[in-house]
Amino acid sequence: MMFNYCNLVMSLLLIVCNKCLCDICKTCICSALNEGAIIDCHDRHLGINEALNFDLLTLDQHQPLNKLILSKNNIVLLPINELKNLKHLKKLDLSQNQLDNIHSDIFKNLNDLEDLNYSHNLLWGFDISILNIDSSLSKFNLSHNQISSLEKSSENITTKLKVLDVSHNKLNNLNFFDDLLELEYLDLSFNKLFSLPVKSLLRLQHLKILYINNNHLLDLNLQNLPLSLLELYAENNFINCLSLQKSLIYTLNIQNNRIFNIYKNLTLLEGLKDLNINGNSLSEFPDVFLKDLETLDLSFNNLTMIPQTVSIKNFPNLRILKVNGNPLKDVKIRSELRLERFEINFVKTIEEIDKETFLMLRERKNDCINITVSNNKKLSTIEENVFQHMNICSLDLSNNCFAHLPSKLFDVNVSNAKYLINLQGNPFICNCSLQWMLSALIPKLYSIKPSLLEDLRCAGPPPLTNKRMIHWYKWKGKVFCGDFSHFAERMTVNIASISSKQVVTFETSPGMIAALATAITLFAILTIIGILLTRRMITKKKRINRRF
Ligand SMILES: *[C@@H]1O[C@H](CO)[C@@H](O)[C@H](O)[C@H]1NC(C)=O
Ligand SMILES: *[C@@H]1O[C@H](CO)[C@@H](O)[C@H](O)[C@H]1NC(C)=O
Ligand SMILES: *[C@@H]1O[C@H](CO)[C@@H](O)[C@H](O)[C@H]1NC(C)=O
Ligand SMILES: *[C@@H]1O[C@H](CO)[C@@H](O)[C@H](O)[C@H]1NC(C)=O
Ligand SMILES: *[C@@H]1O[C@H](CO)[C@@H](O)[C@H](O)[C@H]1NC(C)=O
Ligand SMILES: *[C@@H]1O[C@H](CO)[C@@H](O)[C@H](O)[C@H]1NC(C)=O
Ligand SMILES: *[C@@H]1O[C@H](CO)[C@@H](O)[C@H](O)[C@H]1NC(C)=O
Ligand SMILES: *[C@@H]1O[C@H](CO)[C@@H](O)[C@H](O)[C@H]1NC(C)=O
Repeated sequence: MMFNYCNLVMSLLLIVCNKCLCDICKTCICSALNEGAIIDCHDRHLGINEALNFDLLTLDQHQPLNKLILSKNNIVLLPINELKNLKHLKKLDLSQNQLDNIHSDIFKNLNDLEDLNYSHNLLWGFDISILNIDSSLSKFNLSHNQISSLEKSSENITTKLKVLDVSHNKLNNLNFFDDLLELEYLDLSFNKLFSLPVKSLLRLQHLKILYINNNHLLDLNLQNLPLSLLELYAENNFINCLSLQKSLIYTLNIQNNRIFNIYKNLTLLEGLKDLNINGNSLSEFPDVFLKDLETLDLSFNNLTMIPQTVSIKNFPNLRILKVNGNPLKDVKIRSELRLERFEINFVKTIEEIDKETFLMLRERKNDCINITVSNNKKLSTIEENVFQHMNICSLDLSNNCFAHLPSKLFDVNVSNAKYLINLQGNPFICNCSLQWMLSALIPKLYSIKPSLLEDLRCAGPPPLTNKRMIHWYKWKGKVFCGDFSHFAERMTVNIASISSKQVVTFETSPGMIAALATAITLFAILTIIGILLTRRMITKKKRINRRF
């Protein structure tokens, strides 16, 4: 294979250098693969004179040219007469230029063209009719232009188009795809659509993936969408009316809309795997059975409790559940659940997690669970045996309001967490009751992932305010139980090695300042060396990765 490839490159290069292809290969990158030659002229300033500088006529004469990349060249005018001789061209990338129309000759003459990329140009319209019957185009990218309407000047056109991307334009109506019957992938996101046509999408009986996110849609009716659809992305619209029908859809994203209710007929989506309703106004969830559901995101709705209907009985395959940002009165899980990941963040209303709260929650069979309870600004109490019954993979309790955590919370199962225990950003009161953290937990965290200690600080008592716990890593005495004056004195020795951000509040002498300055300088130098070394390692890794 390798030998074969080298041979091809060699023979191509020979041909190239014999004939006058040399020109373009001096400026662009020419290479050859089994399926034909590739010329990559990305960002070569070819369009400076408003037309291509190269004589493309000769390009295709010796070795079929498979792919031509002319992206990012400020091309304003396409030299159609020259391009049209590239009879074998399959892929043409014209993205990131200044083209404001599409010449129909492209399709008339380049009969083998399969993949055409016009993204990031200045197109304002397009007549779909020029994709005539002979065109073999299957992938067409018109994204990031100024298109407000796609027209169709003649009837009965048939195309082989499978992938069409018209995202990031100004489309406000859709009367064009009646004839794009082979479409499998359609991206209409980031346009100005207020509604979807009632019937014409139904005709796209091969359509599998549809993006209609980031438009101005007011309703979504699956009855108007083809049965073949598997993935539907409708997030960031103004949908308040969702009508369902039997469908094979397995991914449905209706995040950030205005949906108040999901009814029992959600069960019509029998194959649903991934349901994202984040950012709507649900106050309950229907009692439906969905055999394949794996991910359910109910975050940022109007739930006052975690719905009892979310259960292993209803969703035997549920892996991930998110209920972030709801006005929950409590976090209690009221039905049996077996998950891989459970998230409850940004809940302003909860103050306490008691031993009942997570009793019904545990890991999936032969697995472990990631639990994230983070950024709940009033959450200040957690009982000691909350996680006892679970096999925890990672536990994130960061940025809550815990002044104290019971040591028994971190029994064998929890402190053996494979990945992480994140307790950062809590206002811990570092008194004798928290000494166990210093003695038992800090060394463990240090060995799992030192970065977990970066923002693990004491909020009090006053002499310790804002100090990092890692200060006292490996100290023998029980620092948090100790005598503070003695302790503050010893702290000066250690302080420079911890942080440059820290406010130094103790009284100073000139000698101490000098010692401190030296230490800080040393620390800075070491940090820089560290950064350089890591960078190097990363580039090295990247290089290694690239090889495979
Ligand atoms: C344009 O499309 C081609 C073919 O699909 C692709 O290889 C290329 O990366 C695209 N260019 C950009 C800038 O996305
Ligand atoms: C179309 O081009 C844009 C921008 O270059 C790119 O991000 C997008 O992935 C492309 N679409 C498809 C379907 O390849
Ligand atoms: C389009 O096709 C329909 C049915 O196949 C036919 O009746 C009609 O005459 C055709 N129109 C044109 C303009 O060819
Ligand atoms: C789904 O259920 C709701 C409420 O019961 C009802 O109003 C709606 O018509 C149903 N939709 C379909 C498509 O059956
Ligand atoms: C949330 O639900 C309460 C009643 O439970 C209702 O009064 C309130 O308007 C709802 N808020 C939103 C944003 O839907
Ligand atoms: C659990 O957490 C670990 C560490 O953060 C991560 O690598 C893993 O992908 C997570 N698993 C799931 C199902 O989220
Ligand atoms: C740890 O978790 C496993 C699985 O949930 C459980 O069987 C075991 O009793 C737990 N161990 C402890 C010490 O709690
Ligand atoms: C430590 O501080 C916590 C929180 O303020 C308090 O509940 C606890 O009683 C204190 N423990 C000791 C030994 O002072």
